[in-house]
Amino acid sequence: MAIFGKSVPFLWVLILVLSSANNSRVSAVVLIEVTNRLDNGSLDLTVTCPNIENKSFLLHPGQYHQWIDNGDSSPSGGPFFKCSFQWKGASHIFNMYNPARDFDCEECHWYIKETGPCRVYDRPNKPTICSNWDS
Ligand SMILES: *[C@@H]1O[C@H](CO)[C@@H](O)[C@H](O)[C@H]1NC(C)=O
Ligand SMILES: *[C@@H]1O[C@H](CO)[C@@H](O)[C@H](O)[C@H]1NC(C)=O
Repeated sequence: MAIFGKSVPFLWVLILVLSSANNSRVSAVVLIEVTNRLDNGSLDLTVTCPNIENKSFLLHPGQYHQWIDNGDSSPSGGPFFKCSFQWKGASHIFNMYNPARDFDCEECHWYIKETGPCRVYDRPNKPTICSNWDS
């Protein structure tokens, strides 16, 4: 009886912890990572996401940069909308968090290639999905 009496409050604490963890998932914090995978292997990539900060990041081949933000986004707005990607002779725009496409990643890893960004999954049974540039 005494053991039962103790385990009930413990269960309530557990339920409270679990439900608050669920709530925090609703306003999901998203980690976006960009890696320079330009096929040439010798091109520097410059990335800017002006909805977050007007700061450019220069990525040498294989280097990456990460942003952490909430995924409060829409297909036509949000923190990762209209990020720009530039390298020698090219300039493109891409939305790195479109909830219609990216709802299944809390950590979205983008490999930047000439033909467009490819999202790589950290789970082995998921394929890499490549997108076209928005412009
Ligand atoms: C790769 O980059 C180098 C240096 O910019 C350039 O000379 C070469 O033509 C490029 N190769 C391809 C396949 O784009
Ligand atoms: C970046 O610059 C643009 C154009 O000047 C401006 O509209 C935008 O609010 C700036 N972004 C931030 C995060 O300050």
